[in-house]
Amino acid sequence: MVVLREGASVWVDSGIGVPIGAEVKLTDKGQLQLIDDEGKEHKINKKKEASLRLMHPTSVKGVDDMIRLGDLNEEGLLRNLFIRHKDGIIYTYTGSILVSVNPYQVLPIYTTEQVHLYTDQRLGELPPHVFAIADSCFFNMRRSRKDQCCVISGESGAGKTESTKLVLQFLAAVSGQHSWIEQQILEANPILEAFGNAKTIRNDNSSRFGKYIDISFTTSGAIEGARFEQYLLEKSRVCRQAAEERNYHIFYCMLMGMTAEQKKILSLGNASQYHYLTMGNCTSCEGRDDLKEYAHFRSAMKILMFSENDWWEISKLLAAILHLGNMAFEATISNNMESCEILPSSHFTVASTLLEVDPRALEQSLIQRSFMTTKESVTKPLTSAQALDGRDAFVKAIYGRLFIWVVDKINSAIYKPPPDDANYIRQSIGLLDIFGFENFKHNSFEQLCINFANEQLQQFFVKHIFKLEQEEYARENIVWELIQFKDNQRTLDVLANKPLNILCLIDEESHFPKGTDTTMLLKIGSNHDKGDVYLPPKNNHDTTFGIQHFAGVVHYESKGFLEKNRDALSADLIQLVDTSSNKLLKQAFKNELTSGTIINTTNPKLMITPKNSLRQATDKKRVLTLSGQFRQSLDALMKTLTACQPYFIRCIKPNDFKKPMLFDRELCIRQLRYSGMMETIRIRKAGYPIRYTFEEFMERYRVLLQTSVCEPRTQTTQRCCESICENILMEGDWKTGKTKIFLKDFHDTMLEVERMKELNKKALLIQKVLRGYKFRKNFLRKKASALVIQKHWRGHQGRKLYRVVQLGFTRLQARVRARQLRHRYEQQRVAVVVLQARARGCLARRAWTWQRQAVVLLQAHTRGMLARKTVHKMKRDAFLSAKERRDEEEVLRRFRTDPRKLPPHQVEVDAIEQNSAQIFHKVHFPNDTEEVFEVATGTRIRDLVQTISSKLMLASADGFSIFVKTPDKVLSLNEADYFFDSLRQITDWSKKVKTTREGGLNNISYMVFFMRKLWFNVIPGRDLQADLIFHYPQELPKYLRGYHQVSRADMISIGALLFRVKASNDPAQLPMIPKMLKELVPNDQLKAMSADEWKKNIVAAFNKQAGMSEGETMVAFLKAVCRWPTFGCAFFEVKQTSDPNFPDIVRIAISKQGVTLINPKTKDILASHPFNRIANWCSGSTYFHMTVGNLVQGNKVLCETSLGYKIDDLLTSYVNMYVNETRAMKSRNRRYN
Ligand SMILES: Nc1ncnc2c1ncn2[C@@H]1O[C@H](COP(=O)(O)OP(=O)(O)OP(=O)(O)O)[C@@H](O)[C@H]1O
Ligand SMILES: [Mg+2]
Repeated sequence: MVVLREGASVWVDSGIGVPIGAEVKLTDKGQLQLIDDEGKEHKINKKKEASLRLMHPTSVKGVDDMIRLGDLNEEGLLRNLFIRHKDGIIYTYTGSILVSVNPYQVLPIYTTEQVHLYTDQRLGELPPHVFAIADSCFFNMRRSRKDQCCVISGESGAGKTESTKLVLQFLAAVSGQHSWIEQQILEANPILEAFGNAKTIRNDNSSRFGKYIDISFTTSGAIEGARFEQYLLEKSRVCRQAAEERNYHIFYCMLMGMTAEQKKILSLGNASQYHYLTMGNCTSCEGRDDLKEYAHFRSAMKILMFSENDWWEISKLLAAILHLGNMAFEATISNNMESCEILPSSHFTVASTLLEVDPRALEQSLIQRSFMTTKESVTKPLTSAQALDGRDAFVKAIYGRLFIWVVDKINSAIYKPPPDDANYIRQSIGLLDIFGFENFKHNSFEQLCINFANEQLQQFFVKHIFKLEQEEYARENIVWELIQFKDNQRTLDVLANKPLNILCLIDEESHFPKGTDTTMLLKIGSNHDKGDVYLPPKNNHDTTFGIQHFAGVVHYESKGFLEKNRDALSADLIQLVDTSSNKLLKQAFKNELTSGTIINTTNPKLMITPKNSLRQATDKKRVLTLSGQFRQSLDALMKTLTACQPYFIRCIKPNDFKKPMLFDRELCIRQLRYSGMMETIRIRKAGYPIRYTFEEFMERYRVLLQTSVCEPRTQTTQRCCESICENILMEGDWKTGKTKIFLKDFHDTMLEVERMKELNKKALLIQKVLRGYKFRKNFLRKKASALVIQKHWRGHQGRKLYRVVQLGFTRLQARVRARQLRHRYEQQRVAVVVLQARARGCLARRAWTWQRQAVVLLQAHTRGMLARKTVHKMKRDAFLSAKERRDEEEVLRRFRTDPRKLPPHQVEVDAIEQNSAQIFHKVHFPNDTEEVFEVATGTRIRDLVQTISSKLMLASADGFSIFVKTPDKVLSLNEADYFFDSLRQITDWSKKVKTTREGGLNNISYMVFFMRKLWFNVIPGRDLQADLIFHYPQELPKYLRGYHQVSRADMISIGALLFRVKASNDPAQLPMIPKMLKELVPNDQLKAMSADEWKKNIVAAFNKQAGMSEGETMVAFLKAVCRWPTFGCAFFEVKQTSDPNFPDIVRIAISKQGVTLINPKTKDILASHPFNRIANWCSGSTYFHMTVGNLVQGNKVLCETSLGYKIDDLLTSYVNMYVNETRAMKSRNRRYN
């Protein structure tokens, strides 16, 4: 009873007769279920559980050599191949037999590296490989000086031919000569494949013949030559192909590859035009390039010494075959007999031309047949069906013989018969690539031959294996009774060995002219129906019989057996060949033409048959039947093989679809049964199937050893093994050899069960100890950890308390010290105060005394001076009259002030005319307001500025100036001049200009302005009056003209301020922003955003700002502007030519900082010149010029401008201001010093 555990592997019934491997898995619900190798789930019930068997450990993962499988049965083998195939491992050993599963994909295991890897290695040292077998062949041949052979078998498509080629290539490589002969041997394959291979439904490149390659080596191991033997080419394929199948490759290659010229000579078209090439409805083969193959084939022919002419002759015969195939017969009646005639067509004439025969003779031999009566020869017309059969037979004969001719030709190139020298030793390796056992729906004569061959090979194989087994026992000194194994000798006897065997009876019947398939069947029946090998037809109408082959029963259809076996060509056709002048054709038929089959025209016979059909015919002239020929060559082959040491490669086809990674278990088990692998197993089972080397055994079952009985340290491994067996298996039938222990199947099971039990016991013990150890360790660790924690915690607490105490002491100390210090300080302070009071008193008294003395002195001197002055006046008064005194006063006044320079101004004149005592004049302010002020004749500008400033209540008059605006100029008035003089000077000058321009004398209009001229000490918010009347109105236009460099955020918030001023704080006007943008935003920046965006942003800024009065808003504007370096500047746009690095138009800004040159486009500062650096400047009516820095090497700035006078004046004013200031500062400093 199997104990199921998760992960255990078991065998479970699969329904195809062979159990399948399965693994025990736990379902999601926690129940056990089985998942088999194909992924199918199986429920586990009581019944199933009873049928389950535990898988041997070797079957779980698979093994390289299946002999080592514990489950040495069909399922074990199958699963081993299956799991390896799944892993892409196609080769597996069964002892020295290589099982090769067709991968149906190109694997990277055939490289030169692999060849080197496997060269000179013992079998089994490396993973199984076809190269290992080839190497072993080669090595054994050289070591034992015995011929070797390698029998490669398997179903169609299993990979026999590919394996054969691989072995051949490996041998060529290890022979290592790189010789011409090696090349020739390798290149023989493409030629043979072109003629002998075809696409079938099983295999795109199916070999339709068997072959044996005998490769001979010199004693030094170099390939010397080779010989190809061919068996039983499937000739019927030339005339007939099943659906989806093709004729032999050569036809398609030829039609693809020949030049148009050659094809024209042979009157060839393409494959679809030929009856013989299209019966399978398939002219191309996927994955095969006929054109490329043709080129390959042609070069192979050259290597194998086929001349151009040879090929041309071959092509002629092949073309003739195709043309013959396209001929048609028409049934007719002549002389009251069914007859036929050939329908006229070019194909017929071309065929006769190519065969180089007389067309009439060809026609005759195809539509009638000669007979030999006792006296004379007569001819009988053939029906169209018979004629067709005759033609096909002719074609098959031509092709079959051509194939043999080609093989002979190849052999003549690569095979050298051994010299007569007796000392000459030649070793060989033979490779047999032969059709495997066949069992189709309809099996015919060919299948019988093939299966017969396979019976022979099976016998050979079984004997060999049996022998190996015997050898193994002998090697190990095992005494044993003879093992029984399933022998197929009886089948072979019935088929070919016994007197009156089946093949012999078929042959015999073939030689009777009156023999038919039915008479043949009767004869076989009467001789063999007693045994169990021959299975007679079920009834009288049944024409099939069965044979019990080693691989199963095969039913054969007896119809057509004799015809096929005779393989005869009508004498008329042989006669025709004889008349041909085609050399190749005659050479191919040379056997027939020389063996006397050829009938002299006077005595034509249908066939040579012995007069008396003796069972053991001795007639030398007797032509061999097909089976006769085949047996002959097979006998020769068996003889060769028996003389060799054999290797077996069993090719397995994993599926019928030529697909990689697909493993059809049913198909594979069938092949395993055919391949004789089971035979090996049976033989082994009969003996001692389970064998371990002592070391292996000990390794696995050491646990069962009772050390009290047998101590492994003192005893040998063998003794220990025996001790285990004695203990567990008691007196059972097990044996120990020299190196191995031999067991029966059930011994293995017993050992396994005991081992499991023992292991469980030991496992429990180990678990117990381990758990104890684990928990104790854990406990000790925890205990140690607790100690560590305690230690650290106590330490921590102690330190904490200590710190608190320490802190307390520190504080106590501090207090005490502070008290002491304070006490000392108080004492000192009192002392110092007393000292100070005394000292100050002393100093004060001393100073007072000193001052008092000075005052007294000053008083004395002043009083003296006054007294002297009074005395002096009194003296003069005594001499001068009163009038003289008045004159003198007038002169003095005149001298003190300088007089007016110009005649009175019109305004003054007007005032005198109107008898007005006072003159008033209107003065304008930048905020568009105006006011009148009294101006006397003697009022100077300076006085007027003072008057206006105080009237306006400005904090200071500094920096303000009077301007006069005429139609073309604005002039600043010099503060030292008389107001009316300046006015008259300007009006006179303007008049002069005007008269010259306009030729008339008019009153000149002018306006007097009061504005800030010099911007220094201007701090917004400090002098509100000045901010509102002057600063705001003067700065705003500069801002709007875009003279400043302003960030976008500033523009937006300033925009909002300006809006506030314009709209008198009224949010209702916000929607008007786009219309008033020009008054809110620097005009050069209007396009930086769309009007709507400006609006959106300004509105947002407006809403963010706190509410303020108009004045506050203006101040806020000024505060924003005054942050910029260009605040308070006067700007002049001028054209410059002095510096090529500057743009043509530059902006000059003048402020208290000095003169700055600005790029008007980017607003970048180009240059700044503080006033103290400006050495010189001057202006004219169209220019302004300035020298900066050192005069010798100073920069010159020359600008074209009409405002030169203004720049000049402003510069002068600023410079004067600085000069005055410096002067004032100096005197101030002097005074203080
Ligand atoms: N070792 C291999 N590696 C890759 N592909 C292989 C291998 N062996 C066989 N094949 C593939 O299988 C196909 C059939 O192989 P092959 O012609 O050797 O079969 P076969 O046993 O000779 O069949 P037939 O009896 O019909 O001649 C090859 O054409 C190839 O595609
Ligand atoms: Mg093949």
